[in-house]
Amino acid sequence: MQTGRIAAALGLGAMLAAGFAFAQDDQPAFGGEADTAYAEALWNALRDAGYAGDGAIQMKPYEGTEPHGAILQTFWAEIEVEGARGMLIVKRNFGPAGISVEDVSNDPDGNLDSVTVMFQREEGYAPDSANWFWAKYLPDGSLDQTPDGMALAGRTAGCIACHASAAGDDFVFSMDMQP
Ligand code: HEC
Repeated sequence: MQTGRIAAALGLGAMLAAGFAFAQDDQPAFGGEADTAYAEALWNALRDAGYAGDGAIQMKPYEGTEPHGAILQTFWAEIEVEGARGMLIVKRNFGPAGISVEDVSNDPDGNLDSVTVMFQREEGYAPDSANWFWAKYLPDGSLDQTPDGMALAGRTAGCIACHASAAGDDFVFSMDMQP
């Protein structure tokens, strides 16, 4: 009986410890374990929907502005990630500087530099930044990193700081989304 109670107490302690270890608050603002795992699920969803990876959907590229690269393609769609549907904006960034629209049209995969993604998650995920999950992938689907080695996934400070200056409260530059 005594032993049983101790075992129960230990079990509860272990559960609480596990709960704390995985609590969102213990995670860095971006680039932590939960964010990189979610970014992987997001990449798989992009690939399954044809927006990334081999044989991805193409469109006519256009000349972009800094910081997103010389030539761009942008796709809007609604997809499901881990059981929740949300708005997706994919920006394919082509380079290096000086490359032409024609070069990219002829060989989009060979000139792909990175894939920057905004995915609007569930209410409450990031109330101060319109619930966007931000990620920057290299062409093979791995995450790009900040100079000090943090994976660019989650409530990514650099993306948010700049996108905060977009018109309206949606953090989107190219058009105003309905609230
Ligand atoms: C210094 C400013 C700046 C930073 C930093 C920045 N962006 Fe952008 N982003 C822009 C501008 C300006 C546009 C619109 C023009 C264009 O398409 O290039 C844009 C467009 C986008 C779009 C298309 C939707 C829209 O807002 O029009 C996506 C997706 C995107 N950025 C993702 C990202 C991600 C992910 C990061 C961080 C890894 C990031 N951006 C960092 C300035 C920035």
